[in-house]
Amino acid sequence: KEIKDQFIIDAGQKYFGATMCKSCGMIYTASNPEDELQHVQYHQRFLEGIKYTGWKKERVVAQFWDGKIVLVLPHDPNYAIRKVEDVQELVDNELGFQQVTPRCPNKTKTFLFISDEKKVVGCLIAEPIKQAFRILTEPSDSESPTSKECHRAWQCSNVPHPAVCGISRIWVFRLKRRKRIARRLVDTLRNCFMFGCFLSTDEIAFSDPTPDGKLFATKYCNT
Ligand code: ACO
Ligand code: ZN
Repeated sequence: KEIKDQFIIDAGQKYFGATMCKSCGMIYTASNPEDELQHVQYHQRFLEGIKYTGWKKERVVAQFWDGKIVLVLPHDPNYAIRKVEDVQELVDNELGFQQVTPRCPNKTKTFLFISDEKKVVGCLIAEPIKQAFRILTEPSDSESPTSKECHRAWQCSNVPHPAVCGISRIWVFRLKRRKRIARRLVDTLRNCFMFGCFLSTDEIAFSDPTPDGKLFATKYCNT
């Protein structure tokens, strides 16, 4: 019996004393003052960043029972551009991206998923591209527990294939994942990127995907 108890304690070690904040989604140790301070700082910045006050001029491109998708274009009013910049900063921070300037800033299209609670809970940034490289399947994909750790080390084919639209960022708020928000963002992008046509999954490409991004993209493109 002792052995069993010990096992349970070990298995739970990683999250021992850890709490997940129900509003910002950060996991931290409430009993650790340093952790707590870090949480307070992150919490405010994050919630301020995703707050959506409603805009006088907003381009609603899709509407759902649990929210809507708003499209922001480069020449939109300052308040819209500023919100996109704030959200992108949070996303880049989470993805560990350095501040990168887009290649054609005046052709970037940003789709924001706005929840019923008036929060930006999803973001997709797309830009026109001419070609993409397919990710080659990894031999050890299914049984490799370390695949989360080989961050962005996928093998790419060196044969380019024509593509139209590159997804430079896709992100969904931690507490809203697996509710098909990313899927709806990509569906909406395919519908709105080029006027009058619905892009095929061959015509869109995910740039530098994370492990999460790759799992999503694989699933999305096969269904
Ligand atoms: N693990 C396994 N399968 C997944 C995962 C995952 N983490 N995420 C999505 N899928 C698959 C599932 O099959 C899912 O369908 P199901 O829930 O019915 O099984 C299907 O994809 C559709 O998923 P959605 O619910 O639409 O995806 P979600 O809204 O959760 O967003 C995303 C996915 C954007 C990758 C999210 O996990 C996220 O924001 N992660 C952190 C940021 C990130 O890594 N973004 C990708 C960066 S790469 C780039 O920007 C080009
Ligand atoms: Zn919090």
